[in-house]
Amino acid sequence: MAKNNGKCSAVVLAAGKGSRMKSDVQKQFLLLKEKPVLYYSLRCFEDSPLIDEIVLVTEKGMEEYCRESIVERYGFRKVSAIVAGGKERYDSVYAGLKACREPDYVFIHDSARPFVTREILERNMEDVRKSGACVTAVPMKDTVKLADPDGFVQETIPRERLWIIQTPQVFRYDLILRAYEECMAEGMEGITDDAMAAERSGRAKVLFSMGSYQNIKITTPEDLLIAELFLKEQ
Ligand code: CTP
Ligand code: MG
Repeated sequence: MAKNNGKCSAVVLAAGKGSRMKSDVQKQFLLLKEKPVLYYSLRCFEDSPLIDEIVLVTEKGMEEYCRESIVERYGFRKVSAIVAGGKERYDSVYAGLKACREPDYVFIHDSARPFVTREILERNMEDVRKSGACVTAVPMKDTVKLADPDGFVQETIPRERLWIIQTPQVFRYDLILRAYEECMAEGMEGITDDAMAAERSGRAKVLFSMGSYQNIKITTPEDLLIAELFLKEQ
């Protein structure tokens, strides 16, 4: 794809505690095939011609470690800032957004998803240009039912309309920055992803952008086994 898309930043989130992983080292720094989990998504954004800069968000106090042991060690040249995140994911996103150098578009990505690909970024770019906002997602494979308060099935949700949400979530920068400013001022209760901030602000309709079933989030220990299998296959 030719690079005539406007300036694009990536905000890569690596400021979480990884409490569900129950390991001493935070999951973004655990090794997969001798490289930290965080390495893989940085590699993808670094290598994509769509991306102009990467803002890495890490836990306060880990900035120097990230600079030396990840950014310099692996030679990531697009990283323009390493900033401290906050208590909640949305605090980290907001810190990352403010550190971007006025791009046209921003890709917000969880470093806990090491299997994002160049093809996903390209589809995201096409979709965000159509609507101003898109979320990477895959169609639901399982049947999903809604429960009533007594534990009985109330209804079966038509599967064709259900999607599992991943990252990147990609937005026009001005739109998502303003949506975050408004939501942070009003309170972020109930907002679990970036698309919800955009939805609540009413600034854009969020388009689904096809992800991949390999684009898993590393959350609990068994996810590492699956990730190792995917890497073996590559
Ligand atoms: N994240 C972040 N800042 C936070 C919380 C989360 O940057 N305050 C990032 C994580 O590093 C991760 C992504 O957001 O890449 C998705 O979050 P999640 O999978 O929930 O990671 P953690 O919050 O680290 O894990 P847990 O919820 O198990 O503690
Ligand atoms: Mg979390």
